[in-house]
Amino acid sequence: MTTQRIAVHLNQTHDRSYEVVVSPGIFAQLPGLLVSRWPGRKLFIITDNRVGRLYGRALLQNLRAAGADSALYEFKQGEQSKNAGTAYHLQTQLLRAGVKRDSIVVALGGGVVGDLAGYVAATVLRGIGFVQVPTTLLAQVDSSVGGKVGIDVAVGKNLIGAFHQPRAVYIDPTVLATLPEEEFRNGLAEIAKIALALDPSFFRRIEQVAPKLRKKDVQQLCWLIARAVGLKAAVVEKDEYESGLRKVLNLGHTIGHAVEASSGYAIKHGAAVAIGMAAESEISVRLGLMPERDRVRLMKTLRALKLPTAMPRIHKPTQFFDALAADKKSVAGGLQFVLPSSIGTSAINVSVPGEYIMDLLRRHS
Ligand SMILES: NC(=O)c1ccc[n+]([C@@H]2O[C@H](COP(=O)([O-])OP(=O)(O)OC[C@H]3O[C@@H](n4cnc5c(N)ncnc54)[C@H](O)[C@@H]3O)[C@@H](O)[C@H]2O)c1
Ligand SMILES: [Zn+2]
Repeated sequence: MTTQRIAVHLNQTHDRSYEVVVSPGIFAQLPGLLVSRWPGRKLFIITDNRVGRLYGRALLQNLRAAGADSALYEFKQGEQSKNAGTAYHLQTQLLRAGVKRDSIVVALGGGVVGDLAGYVAATVLRGIGFVQVPTTLLAQVDSSVGGKVGIDVAVGKNLIGAFHQPRAVYIDPTVLATLPEEEFRNGLAEIAKIALALDPSFFRRIEQVAPKLRKKDVQQLCWLIARAVGLKAAVVEKDEYESGLRKVLNLGHTIGHAVEASSGYAIKHGAAVAIGMAAESEISVRLGLMPERDRVRLMKTLRALKLPTAMPRIHKPTQFFDALAADKKSVAGGLQFVLPSSIGTSAINVSVPGEYIMDLLRRHS
């Protein structure tokens, strides 16, 4: 498969449209691409130590060989680094290194790097340009597109941040070869989520390839990534600031986030979202929104993707419920959910009676 290009059109006061390029081997071409697009600009690569070792240092060397004035900053890998301390440290480093209004931040890594480096780019000198070079499947299909950047605080995840769209997104599926299997599965959960929420034919394709999908299957991955990005881009174009439609991308996340948090983050985000999709489809069937046969199809597909579907033991259902309720706006005794209404369609702002959730939790306590 050749290169796929997806345009994200965002025109309000000025044109902030950008292109997402999905192309095997594009990582090796990045120095040339970046230097020809931004000649003479300072390029600041931000990455974590793991991705830095695997890809960052080589990129720095090649950028310099291509004549770019560039630097590399690494922070310790992991969600724990996505905080104000790391952001402040990076902001200070960039300022000390003479960052200018026209400098470009290159966010090289998974969603943690993308969110953090994007946040640094959004805030340093009141906002400079940045490009996303996502290296996890999750970041390639989800976090690198759409311009949500931010950090975690003690009160909760992603609560401080901005909407700051990248200038471009360069996706190379061949870098997934080094990604741990568990991280790969995380990304598959977000792909399944996008298909479940928005596109029955995409879901059918996933059903077909799920049992034999491997990280090395670059052609297959290219196609899946480009399709997922295309769907997400279309949603972002219509509702950049999440006032309505964009909420569909939170499918599986209401229960998913609560599962993730109550496990102390031992259950990974993608796995938690898979569990969330399974539980939310159960609720949807009970509400008479989703046909039971579609729920069965979803469960089969999640299992074929080697994702978990069963709720973990909930030791304190009331506490779990409270955490979930705090996360969601309560409307007339119900909780606001995004729910699947069939394979490939979903409904936002569905009010779910609190006792439906409590029933579900009690069954797993
Ligand atoms: N902004 C958004 O719209 C959005 C959407 C979804 C998720 N997110 C955020 O994304 C984050 C999760 O992202 P993630 O799952 O990519 O986690 P991550 O960035 O922590 O990456 C997971 C691990 O994989 C390693 N890694 C990355 N690329 C690699 C590669 N090619 N080979 C080997 N190892 C590699 C990293 O060093 C890290 O240890 C969360 O903070 C979440 O809030 C943001
Ligand atoms: Zn997610």
